[in-house]
Amino acid sequence: MCGISCVLSLSPSQLVLDKNIHKNLRKRGPNYSENITKTASSPYYQCLFSAHVLHMRGCLTPQPAQDSNGNVLMWNGEVFSGLTVRLDENDTDVLCYHFSAYNSPTDILSVLANIRGPWAFIYYQQTGPYLWFGRDFFGRRSLLWHYDTEKKTFTLTSVAACLAAHSQWQEVPAVGVYRIDLRAFAESGSLTFEVYPWIHAGESLSSVSHKSKWEAIPNNTSAVMNISGLSLTSPVCPMNMSIPLLSKDVEHSKISQASVEELEVLLESGRRKIVVNSLINVLSEAVRRRVQCLPFDTQIPSPPKSNEAAIAILFSGGIDSMVLAALADRHIPSDKPIDLLNVAFKLPEPKIQESAKKGRKQKAKSADSQTDVADSLEYSPFNVPDRITGRAGLQELIVLNPERRWNFVEINVTQKELHEMRQKHICHLVHPLDTVLDDSIGCAVWFAARGIGLIAEGNGKRGFTSSAKVVLTGIGADEQLAGYSRHRVRFKTSGHEGLVQELAMELDRISTRNLGRDDRIIGDHGKEARFPYLDEDVVCFLNSLPVAEKADLSLSRGVGEKLILRLVAKQLGLGASALLPKRAMQFGSRIAKMENSHEKASDKCTRLLTT
Ligand SMILES: *[C@@H]1O[C@H](CO)[C@@H](O)[C@H](O)[C@H]1NC(C)=O
Ligand SMILES: *[C@@H]1O[C@H](CO)[C@@H](O)[C@H](O)[C@H]1NC(C)=O
Ligand SMILES: *[C@@H]1O[C@H](CO)[C@@H](O)[C@H](O)[C@H]1NC(C)=O
Ligand SMILES: *[C@@H]1O[C@H](CO)[C@@H](O)[C@H](O)[C@H]1NC(C)=O
Ligand SMILES: *[C@@H]1O[C@H](CO)[C@@H](O)[C@H](O)[C@H]1NC(C)=O
Ligand SMILES: *[C@@H]1O[C@H](CO)[C@@H](O)[C@H](O)[C@H]1NC(C)=O
Ligand SMILES: *[C@@H]1O[C@H](CO)[C@@H](O)[C@H](O)[C@H]1NC(C)=O
Ligand SMILES: *[C@@H]1O[C@H](CO)[C@@H](O)[C@H](O)[C@H]1NC(C)=O
Repeated sequence: MCGISCVLSLSPSQLVLDKNIHKNLRKRGPNYSENITKTASSPYYQCLFSAHVLHMRGCLTPQPAQDSNGNVLMWNGEVFSGLTVRLDENDTDVLCYHFSAYNSPTDILSVLANIRGPWAFIYYQQTGPYLWFGRDFFGRRSLLWHYDTEKKTFTLTSVAACLAAHSQWQEVPAVGVYRIDLRAFAESGSLTFEVYPWIHAGESLSSVSHKSKWEAIPNNTSAVMNISGLSLTSPVCPMNMSIPLLSKDVEHSKISQASVEELEVLLESGRRKIVVNSLINVLSEAVRRRVQCLPFDTQIPSPPKSNEAAIAILFSGGIDSMVLAALADRHIPSDKPIDLLNVAFKLPEPKIQESAKKGRKQKAKSADSQTDVADSLEYSPFNVPDRITGRAGLQELIVLNPERRWNFVEINVTQKELHEMRQKHICHLVHPLDTVLDDSIGCAVWFAARGIGLIAEGNGKRGFTSSAKVVLTGIGADEQLAGYSRHRVRFKTSGHEGLVQELAMELDRISTRNLGRDDRIIGDHGKEARFPYLDEDVVCFLNSLPVAEKADLSLSRGVGEKLILRLVAKQLGLGASALLPKRAMQFGSRIAKMENSHEKASDKCTRLLTT
């Protein structure tokens, strides 16, 4: 993970990067910072490249990376496969080499299209000269842009700062790779992006469905698709839009209510078992790649302190995070701990000082907990639904692997701290997104990923700070497997056809909804977010399945949505967590309760504005 930024200007005044932006970039990449400037005289332009590196693997590679021909690469990504990067190599250098050795647009695009893993990059190509930039197919790494018409200054950056009125940052749409012809810009004074869009294999350029998205460019700039028809081939196959012919499956009659036994009944079907095992294989491999590419792999002289975890998981105890934990367990040696980050926002104190017992009962009930764990707990204002399911999930993981130290990190956040951190840091990271939902999730993920909380020790608890540099998150499971309540609504009104269209649309917009934001939020701690459910092979596998195999919304809540993942959980030996209904993070962590409960999730959030 790195913070990268580039300022391109036709004005001769000295290039500066806003101080706050520089500070935010630095937090993403605390291990190495460097600026490089490139200028040309006739026609005149100048370019500042500012890179901030978080050291993840191989030897630390300084960025901006330069080759002997004067090309400059800034790479904020991970190559998990698709391009050979040996264990002792660093992916930045390997890419830099590829880009300079094979430098035609076709070559550059084909290298990028082959990469499996998240990325955002900026590349200055001396021959041309050109400025290339873009984000991976899903948009798993953030990149923002802004064009100042008056100063004729164009800026790209991983993270910005929310500076009152004039900050007009936008996320670079993850629809392809962009190229600026610097000479043409300098001569004409008008900024044009050439867009090389992502398309599915076999699809024609003219059918690029997200045309409206790639036209979402800064004011006073324009975009053209190259007439030569160059594009990037999508790393995933298109979604299987077929819908079941039979409206009712026989097996439904057997399913009355949510229970683990019912899942067993469903698993008896041979076809289902094959599909479930295939998903386990592909998801397990996705997790393996994400937990094994770590900084210490090659640092023989300094292995990590064995009592510190290298991997943390954003952990609510819900099915998405439980499956990730169970699979991570397969690939991380048992003597290494895993940090489970569980965030809770303080519940309002009960109004009357009723007996603690009564308060406790009510809490347990409102949390619709399926376990009786809550009953064994003292009342605490931090016993929010995700805390309760998190503890229950922890017990299941302990049963799964009693040898491992599972650090269940209780992260308690008070209103005071929330307000302080939102104003100081979080609002800048969420920007340019701005809704109530962005605020809730942004804040919840920021505190969770920071990893400062308490863990159990003996009969008490002690302060704990997670040192894991990699944070796994379950994002993508609900979007692909119909986990949200809106999926049920859609299914009720327009059946499988409507549902499958909804799923396709949600996968398409996941970068603008979530990924850029989550990357900026988690990156702020000098940690790297990794998204196993958005691994290319996982998405490709899920896309190939007809919708009815992923979810069956004619079954009850807690079974039907994300059905295939519940069966995976069952097969992996998990218990009651396999049947928890979806609870969105803003409710599970109770952050939504802390603020004005009358707002809608899609409203603009006034708390995010800086004063
Ligand atoms: C890079 O440039 C920024 C702003 O222009 C400056 O604040 C910062 O100190 C520079 N960093 C380095 C490593 O030179
Ligand atoms: C990178 O920076 C972080 C934060 O300052 C520090 O904890 C870590 O040890 C550094 N890593 C290396 C390999 O220098
Ligand atoms: C990065 O990897 C390249 C290729 O393996 C290697 O030559 C180079 O020394 C590495 N960079 C650093 C700073 O170690
Ligand atoms: C673009 O221009 C319109 C009209 O002047 C303005 O409302 C909008 O905020 C601008 N958008 C950006 C991102 O600058
Ligand atoms: C820039 O765009 C805005 C809004 O789209 C428009 O009002 C303005 O005239 C444009 N300025 C220039 C110099 O083209
Ligand atoms: C399209 O790309 C080719 C190859 O890079 C280039 O020669 C040509 O000028 C581009 N066309 C446009 C309209 O930019
Ligand atoms: C944090 O919350 C838990 C309940 O989930 C509670 O047991 C613990 O005492 C709280 N710690 C602090 C410091 O508030
Ligand atoms: C979609 O699923 C159906 C039913 O399993 C299968 O027959 C068909 O080949 C799939 N189509 C694609 C494009 O994968």
